[in-house]
Amino acid sequence: MSEAITALVTGASRGIGAAIADALVEAGYRVAGTATSEAGAAAIGSRLGSAGAGFVLDVADDVSVEQAHAAIVAQLGDPLVLVNNAGVTRDNLLLRMKPEEWDTVVQTNVGGLYRLCRRMVRPMMKARFGRIISLSSVIARMGNAGQTNYAASKGAVEAFTRSLAQEIGSRGITVNAVAPGFIETEMTAAIPEAQRHALLANVAVGRLGSAAEVASVVRFLASEGAGYITGETIHVNGGLYCA
Ligand SMILES: NC(=O)c1ccc[n+]([C@@H]2O[C@H](COP(=O)([O-])OP(=O)(O)OC[C@H]3O[C@@H](n4cnc5c(N)ncnc54)[C@H](OP(=O)(O)O)[C@@H]3O)[C@@H](O)[C@H]2O)c1
Repeated sequence: MSEAITALVTGASRGIGAAIADALVEAGYRVAGTATSEAGAAAIGSRLGSAGAGFVLDVADDVSVEQAHAAIVAQLGDPLVLVNNAGVTRDNLLLRMKPEEWDTVVQTNVGGLYRLCRRMVRPMMKARFGRIISLSSVIARMGNAGQTNYAASKGAVEAFTRSLAQEIGSRGITVNAVAPGFIETEMTAAIPEAQRHALLANVAVGRLGSAAEVASVVRFLASEGAGYITGETIHVNGGLYCA
């Protein structure tokens, strides 16, 4: 265990983040998983057991990022794998979109990358190894009425990824994004049945994806074997959109 690489997975309390944490534990990483509440962090800690620990983190808040990062480094060492999974939606048509619906989505989905990467890249540079993997969405490419804030934030995740990859590639650090389509989680459970039916008609494989199917791609991108892939967005959408 002492030689295991530490991986930080934001938003590991449920959905895709929980599946990523499980997949990385299975692959032998020591995992720091985060939730926004003490109860969520404690539940992550219980699930991970000796393979890692749970921490409270709000990626939209500078102080929270600073405190969580310090606690993770003290307990598990510097993470050399960072999975920016935490993400939120605040759907509304643009004409009705309140400033706080815009700001929450942008500050969480994009601002979180800035805060975490900026803090965590230096130790990766020293180690001459690092893996940064961020969750985008098929909506970044397809667009979706009612999601201008979310689509803009995920498009920014992909653009950020391409640029940071070029800044730090020579230090052995790869930076990639994974863009899921419609995955069975609490986020998609909110989609009305009729809309869900219509969506599935356009998915080549004819079903929603599972969180585990997204996690297996993240696990691959974190591995040594993925060292020549950087600046990329890997689509995991069952053929809903072929980029
Ligand atoms: N589900 C899909 O079909 C789908 C499709 C495309 C892309 N994605 C992307 O995949 C990622 C995970 O999606 P999901 O469906 O698994 O989401 P989810 O079930 O709604 O879970 C969201 C996770 O993010 C955490 N979180 C929310 N706000 C946060 C903040 N300010 N700081 C830190 N953590 C925060 C939540 O923590 P708490 O439990 O403490 O609230 C939770 O762990 C997101 O980036 C999402 O945009 C999902």
